[in-house]
Amino acid sequence: MTQIKREKAVTLTELQRKKSSGKKITMLTAYDYSMAKMLDESGLDIILVGDSLGMVVLGYDSTVPVTMEEMIHHCKAVRRGVSRALLVGDMPYLSYQVSKEEAVRNAGRFFKEAGCQCVKLEGGSAMASTIKRIVEAGIPVMGHIGLTPQTVTALGGYRIQGRDPESAEKLLEDARAVAEAGAFSLVLECIPSTLARGITEMIPIPTIGIGSGPYCDGQVLVTNDLLGLFEKFLPSFVKRYVNLAPMIKEALATYIDEVERGIFPGPEYSPGP
Ligand code: KIV
Repeated sequence: MTQIKREKAVTLTELQRKKSSGKKITMLTAYDYSMAKMLDESGLDIILVGDSLGMVVLGYDSTVPVTMEEMIHHCKAVRRGVSRALLVGDMPYLSYQVSKEEAVRNAGRFFKEAGCQCVKLEGGSAMASTIKRIVEAGIPVMGHIGLTPQTVTALGGYRIQGRDPESAEKLLEDARAVAEAGAFSLVLECIPSTLARGITEMIPIPTIGIGSGPYCDGQVLVTNDLLGLFEKFLPSFVKRYVNLAPMIKEALATYIDEVERGIFPGPEYSPGP
């Protein structure tokens, strides 16, 4: 497959246009400069510096311990690698729940200090007034409902949300509230395909699915899962497009062997006499 060359920066208007015309929106995560540059050059629409950073890069057991400082540090690195895709920074746990003022201040740090164009935060109706305040401050917000990893314990673990009529109705209400609060798009994580389709048809803003089937306006995955770089566990909805970890391990074993046997560096990698 050849690389798609796209020069024009992705805008919120373009995402909205994609929803209207039925063209799918593509989104992946990045946490550092090198990967961000590759993603940007691939033609992807949105790059998310997800708080999945905590698990796939920092080695925490969940996203809960991730701090604002860690997110800002990684967003800055990603920013330096992105010139075209829309850059979204994920607000970590307790950076937006304590008060609306703190939420605006922290969203402002992603925007002003880290160079993100938008922020993402988890929660439905309960977060609507916070989303509204951040949007009023001039910062576009992406919502996130369904399985919200920051509050996974309260949700009863990593499992599909909205299976029974009551919780499905609650998710419809949450989606409506987030859209009405002014969010520009909404992540739907781990909800049944038909419910995701219902939400996608109901709200005017683009939905981005993860583990929510094919009817969303776009799709997102954690890049380290898709590339086979994170081996601790693999959610059932992830398609591994390549399995890099074994390839990396093999390369490292070859390097160690060649150094130990004096094969590397040979003449072609040596400065000469
Ligand atoms: O943190 C993250 O990477 C996310 C996406 C998977 C949606 O929230």
